[in-house]
Amino acid sequence: MAVPREVLDALEPYNEPNVGRDMLRLHFNENLFLPEEYYREVLVDVSPDEARYYTEPLNRSFNRFLEESFGLPEGSAFATLGADEALRLLMHLPLLARWRVVVLEPTYGMVGPIAASLGLWAEQSLLTETFDVDVDDVVRRGPALVYVCSPNNPTGNVPRGIEELASRLEGLLVVDEAYWEYRGESHVDLLEYRNVALVRTFSKAWGLAGIRVGYLAADPTLVEFVSRISLPHNLPAHSMAVVRRALGARRYVEDAVARAREAYAYFTGRLRGLGIGFLPSVANFVTVLVDSPSKVAEALLARGIAVRDVSSKPRCGRCLRITLAPPHVMDRVLDSLASALEDLKSGRGGAS
Ligand SMILES: Cc1ncc(COP(=O)(O)O)c(C=O)c1O
Repeated sequence: MAVPREVLDALEPYNEPNVGRDMLRLHFNENLFLPEEYYREVLVDVSPDEARYYTEPLNRSFNRFLEESFGLPEGSAFATLGADEALRLLMHLPLLARWRVVVLEPTYGMVGPIAASLGLWAEQSLLTETFDVDVDDVVRRGPALVYVCSPNNPTGNVPRGIEELASRLEGLLVVDEAYWEYRGESHVDLLEYRNVALVRTFSKAWGLAGIRVGYLAADPTLVEFVSRISLPHNLPAHSMAVVRRALGARRYVEDAVARAREAYAYFTGRLRGLGIGFLPSVANFVTVLVDSPSKVAEALLARGIAVRDVSSKPRCGRCLRITLAPPHVMDRVLDSLASALEDLKSGRGGAS
């Protein structure tokens, strides 16, 4: 078989290290505030029939359920295997017409690879120095699809200019809302622009990253197009059953989100005290500003703490992203961070 080597060689393998479960995992923005009772309440078994038979084609009842649960218009929700699958399906649309795609950087690291895996060349439009949208730059490029993340990962802010972009863009505007519950507000009003698709997930605030459910919300006509390119049974019955239960256990999630906000105030207060800079965040992570972020990440890993070195992203040369956890855990992070910075300053290197 003739393999298009030059194309495949250009694809990067997914190379995030598997740090396992024994490390303090602060590198994936998982929800570290949910109690065991939540999981006891939501983790259900499926019946033999649910295991034996295929799921309902295109998950129509589950999509309805999501619409009702989140107050979305009828026909506007489409469940996916994590938000990542929603991004891949949406990226598939311009592929059909070989259209131009623009990604607003710095942002979520999987977006570029998803586009590349489909053979799409994603141009970058840089967010401004305050991490807002450079609307003129994006519109000028005349893209068929634009990706923006809000609250943005790894900068933690809600970029200004998204609504103006929706109103001026002819192509599709994909707004990744993986962290919207932490912000407490969504861009749902943008759905009145029929070229907007919101992407959401149960991996973050809902604490169900291993269950792999996300969804997109968009104009029903667009959802219908997406359903034509989706695999018909894209979600396991078990995952959908767990999400249904989780919606009934919302109170745990609301409480965990409130505690993450408190942890944010605590952590950033202590960062200020230590004179360590950070990017203000409305999500469940804080991006701290340090010299040599990759060395600091290495030093933290040697101390049993996994954080995300995002310094290779544009405008993020000093950035290290850290998932919020309860205050006593953040104390450990701060102690390790302070000692790692001290070691690096005195030339004692990364590991300890
Ligand atoms: C902005 C953003 N979008 C999407 C995802 C992926 O979500 P999922 O686990 O639902 O695929 C992440 C995970 O880190 C993310 O940060």
